[in-house]
Amino acid sequence: MLVTGLEILKKARAEGYGVGAFNTNNMEFTQAILEAAEELRSPVILALSEGAMKYGGRALTQMAVALAKEARVPVAIHLDHGSSYESVLKALREGFTSVMIDKSHEDFETNVRETKRVVEAAHAVGVTVEAELGRLAGIEEHVAVDEKDALLTNPEEARIFMERTGADYLAVAIGTSHGAYKGKGRPFIDHPRLERIAGLVPAPLVLHGASAVPPELVERFRAAGGEIGEAAGIHPEDIRKAIALGVAKINTDTDLRLAFTALIRETLGKSPKEFDPRKYLGPAREAVKEVVKSRMELFGSVGKA
Ligand code: G3H
Ligand code: 13P
Ligand code: ZN
Repeated sequence: MLVTGLEILKKARAEGYGVGAFNTNNMEFTQAILEAAEELRSPVILALSEGAMKYGGRALTQMAVALAKEARVPVAIHLDHGSSYESVLKALREGFTSVMIDKSHEDFETNVRETKRVVEAAHAVGVTVEAELGRLAGIEEHVAVDEKDALLTNPEEARIFMERTGADYLAVAIGTSHGAYKGKGRPFIDHPRLERIAGLVPAPLVLHGASAVPPELVERFRAAGGEIGEAAGIHPEDIRKAIALGVAKINTDTDLRLAFTALIRETLGKSPKEFDPRKYLGPAREAVKEVVKSRMELFGSVGKA
């Protein structure tokens, strides 16, 4: 069933588990994510970035909304990193039930003003909103304290930001970053900062850049001819700790991309004569589904639908 992001996340934060927001750009990822959720009886958030909306157009958005409505578990269709009011309106028109407005690169007052404007529009049509405060930068342990402070979410500012904007959930910067190269190979998560934020902000918190970049997946990608440098992700134990402290929404894209591409490379490498796309997209879809399932187990959302 199609529900708002807040409906899923309020329960998650209250009960101390996390819900995965998984990015999709096509049919195979959408099916893999929704099938995993149904098989494990887990709520799920299907995330579409502006790039995804451009790539997949209405074929993607309408497929996502239709499948979410039919699903036997709660599903929210979410705009990931909406960059403008216009972009949010487009998602609202497409039937999304959750939107993110990301003005984290702007100054505090601009972020407040722009986020508030989006909250008013989204709430008017019953859609809930994610906002972001702080910069998502890969941080290493030895980075100086004041340098960390300048980038990462300030707990007191977070409290004021949420009160002034009326946003429903907050993406925090605590050391994670997007992609396969986090924290120059030694990612650092600022759990004490997260604990202070969670103490001041009762809303569900969101962790971006949370992929694990599992070494076995990286190795599989390499073995199949893929080229990737010193990849590193967030350790599962750090994710578990973050959930215990108040993170309710955990974003994962990179791990799914890696699994999908590794399997396509592997299949085509083994069968150079194959040109039926179903023969390599099928196993790739299965690999995405397996990764989604293992993330749901880690987040503790299994059986929570
Ligand atoms: O945070 C970004 C997501 O991984 C989506 O990436 O903008 O390349 O679709 P994208
Ligand atoms: P990863 O690149 O770690 O998968 O993060 C994805 C994300 O935050 C999407 O918004
Ligand atoms: Zn993100």
